[in-house]
Amino acid sequence: MAEPIVIRCRENGPLVVPRAAVRVVDHEGNELPLPEGKELVALCRCGQSSTKPFCDGSHRAAGFRACETVARNDERPA
Ligand code: FES
Repeated sequence: MAEPIVIRCRENGPLVVPRAAVRVVDHEGNELPLPEGKELVALCRCGQSSTKPFCDGSHRAAGFRACETVARNDERPA
C-alpha cells in the first residue's frame, strides 16, 4: 500500500502538499496549472490570495490565524 499523502498546515498559512502528488482541478474538472519552480504546492486557506486556489503570501499581511492555532492559543491560561 502506498504511503499516504501528507498535507501540511503551515502555522497561520497555507495548506502545503508535494507537487508530485497532486493535480488541482476547478469545479468542472479542468486542470489548473501549478505554480512553476516549486516542489511544494501551497493552497490558500485565508481567502486573501489573488491567485486562488494557490497561496500568494497575502495571509501574512492579512494577519490570518488558522483555526487550529486559534484553538491552541485559546487553551492557554491568561
Ligand atoms: S494562505 Fe497564503 S494567501 Fe491565503
